[in-house]
Amino acid sequence: MLLEVQNLTVSYGNIEALHGISFNIERGEIVTLIGANGAGKTSTLLSLARLTRPEAPMVQAGDILYEGKSILKTDAHMLIQNHLMALVPEGRHIFGNLTVQENLQLAAFSYRRNPRRAAIFSEAQELVFDLFPRLKERRKQRGELLSGGEQQMLAVGRTLMTGSDFIMLDEPSMGLAPKLMYEMFRALRRLNQEKNITILVVEQNAKVALEFALRGYVLKTGEIITSGTSEELAANPEVKKAYLGG
Ligand SMILES: Nc1ncnc2c1ncn2[C@@H]1O[C@H](COP(=O)(O)OP(=O)(O)OP(=O)(O)O)[C@@H](O)[C@H]1O
Ligand SMILES: [Mg+2]
Repeated sequence: MLLEVQNLTVSYGNIEALHGISFNIERGEIVTLIGANGAGKTSTLLSLARLTRPEAPMVQAGDILYEGKSILKTDAHMLIQNHLMALVPEGRHIFGNLTVQENLQLAAFSYRRNPRRAAIFSEAQELVFDLFPRLKERRKQRGELLSGGEQQMLAVGRTLMTGSDFIMLDEPSMGLAPKLMYEMFRALRRLNQEKNITILVVEQNAKVALEFALRGYVLKTGEIITSGTSEELAANPEVKKAYLGG
């Protein structure tokens, strides 16, 4: 098992946002976690990535096992340094004053002492440009001048530059026109099939998430209420009513 989340709780002060959730991901899978506003999706991903919101430290309990070993005491930068996982955060957070290429270069920082870094960088960049030709055309353009969809592509590209084969995405469909959204999910599926990259995607947009992932979990106010294959979830009356517009 790549990832096992065991009875994870996350609290902000005395507000408990996750009430002991458990789920798992095998290497090579595409898994989704769907849930409405405030369900705890971002809290889950931040906890897995060992990040915390600067304005509100998270207190966590339970366990997160990565290939059987607890990462609860591992620093976020060590996860990147060791190419274990990379996150496309909510809101993308690319560097607006840096070019596309500079954003990608920064993301490859874990290779800075590697004697092969130039070759590793150009190979990874080629993969990103092959997946997202728009980024290649705009490689000298500053991040802040990219469209929302292009910024999302850059945020995905950045995770690939880290060399991680497990990526997590926080609401990648947010704010994207359908055409760009499907372009992005197609690119993600290619990464999964051709590069065996494991993907965890959290989404409020349950329809697109269940089309993209093979199985998923439903998060409601800090608890996982049901799970199954995407077909099972899409046919589940409760899921239909709450997340798929009846
Ligand atoms: N810094 C914080 N301080 C207090 N409570 C917080 C904080 N951040 C999040 N919460 C609470 O934790 C719960 C889960 O929030 P979280 O951001 O993880 O949800 P989400 O599913 O990502 O929502 P959204 O779809 O709006 O992004 C919410 O009830 C939220 O109000
Ligand atoms: Mg969120």
